[in-house]
Amino acid sequence: MTKAEERGMKIAVYPGSFDPVTYGHLDIIHRAAKQFDRLIVAVLNNTSKNPLFSLEERKRLLADVTKDLPNVEVDGFRDLLINYMKQRKAHVLVRGLRAVSDFEHELQMASMNHKLSEDIETFFMMTNPAYSFLSSSIVKEIAKFHGPISDLVPPEVEQALREKNANK
Ligand code: PNS
Repeated sequence: MTKAEERGMKIAVYPGSFDPVTYGHLDIIHRAAKQFDRLIVAVLNNTSKNPLFSLEERKRLLADVTKDLPNVEVDGFRDLLINYMKQRKAHVLVRGLRAVSDFEHELQMASMNHKLSEDIETFFMMTNPAYSFLSSSIVKEIAKFHGPISDLVPPEVEQALREKNANK
């Protein structure tokens, strides 16, 4: 147990693939960090999804772009999310909603997580409308064809995407 957990702080987890982190994710991180004592950005080690960036690369990029946020921690997990949250003594799970199309899947996940563990609550935050069209997949697609992505991801992520594509 960390010192924060021992002191009974409100700890939230923002889980995702973050392959890679975008300005849409970063907007949610900044806003969620203001609502909780500690925000754990939890990167799923999703072996089945064949991510472009390794877990370590995704975590490093997230750590770089959140280094100015003292109550944000970046971690990885490979477990059921509710088990990871229990281990971290977190009861709130944060997810961003971009559009109605996200809702069905998010409702299913939130309901299932609540069924699996009644004391887990999902807090939904509406993504800033400026980023409602944004996803990691679309950023990867644009970067693959050398399109402009500087409005979509932080400079560190843009650089990492350029290097990934150059080394392919
Ligand atoms: O960024 P993503 O890919 O939309 O994030 C999905 C994520 C990581 C939140 C979800 O796949 C997840 O929680 N995976 C961990 C395994 C798990 O607990 N699955 C049951 C969810 S009901």
